[in-house]
Amino acid sequence: GPLEEMSLPLFFGWFLLPSVQDKVRCTSMDFLKTLDTLEAFKKHLSDFTGKAEKEVDLEQYFQAKGTLHCTTEFCDYGKAPGAKEYAQNTTVKEFYGSAFELSLSALFVTPRTVGARVSLTEEQLLLWPADPKEEAGSTSLPRGSRAHITLGCAEHVEPVQTGLDLLEILTLQQEGQQGEPIEEMELGSLTYYGEGRWLLTLREPICTPACFSSFYG
Ligand code: A2P
Repeated sequence: GPLEEMSLPLFFGWFLLPSVQDKVRCTSMDFLKTLDTLEAFKKHLSDFTGKAEKEVDLEQYFQAKGTLHCTTEFCDYGKAPGAKEYAQNTTVKEFYGSAFELSLSALFVTPRTVGARVSLTEEQLLLWPADPKEEAGSTSLPRGSRAHITLGCAEHVEPVQTGLDLLEILTLQQEGQQGEPIEEMELGSLTYYGEGRWLLTLREPICTPACFSSFYG
């Protein structure tokens, strides 16, 4: 019946407290504003517009969606594979409703998404499911590589894309592509990985309190 279908959430994850959400959003907006004005970015503008001459306002280009969070398990109300097992996991049950401190170590921008990379602690990794997408490459990426917060999506792009964009950049790094160092910004060092992929490695990770919980929608 419908109640049974609702017994599992849309997803589990860490939810940022409202006060820090604003802070993270501001940091992300500031970054987009600055990136927009860089000559190096303008040089590669066609990655975003398809045309070299056109301008782009990154703050308008990306739309923010809902509460800021780091998804651990996408359950799709139980329809996603492994959802039930995850919800029944003893660690998941034990930590449900607990407070954590998330460390945001980088910001990234692609023509599709803007997001923050989350560097998980050993304890937080206990709540991270086996992720086929992390294991998909020729040499798999470390567990938790996909952990991120979606900060915005381009028109017609679904938030699930943000984690895939992050994995793409990390795969390039793992394959030995260092990217093109662009410049030292106030927040950290900016690197370009081609095809509109920008990574800002934060000098000081942003630490933010977050509650491990679930979202029903
Ligand atoms: P993300 O975690 O990258 O932000 P939606 O609104 O599209 O239903 O998604 C709800 C949340 O679940 C979003 O946070 C989204 O992406 C995440 N999500 C959606 N689909 C998947 C998926 N197939 N795998 C992992 N996470 C997903």
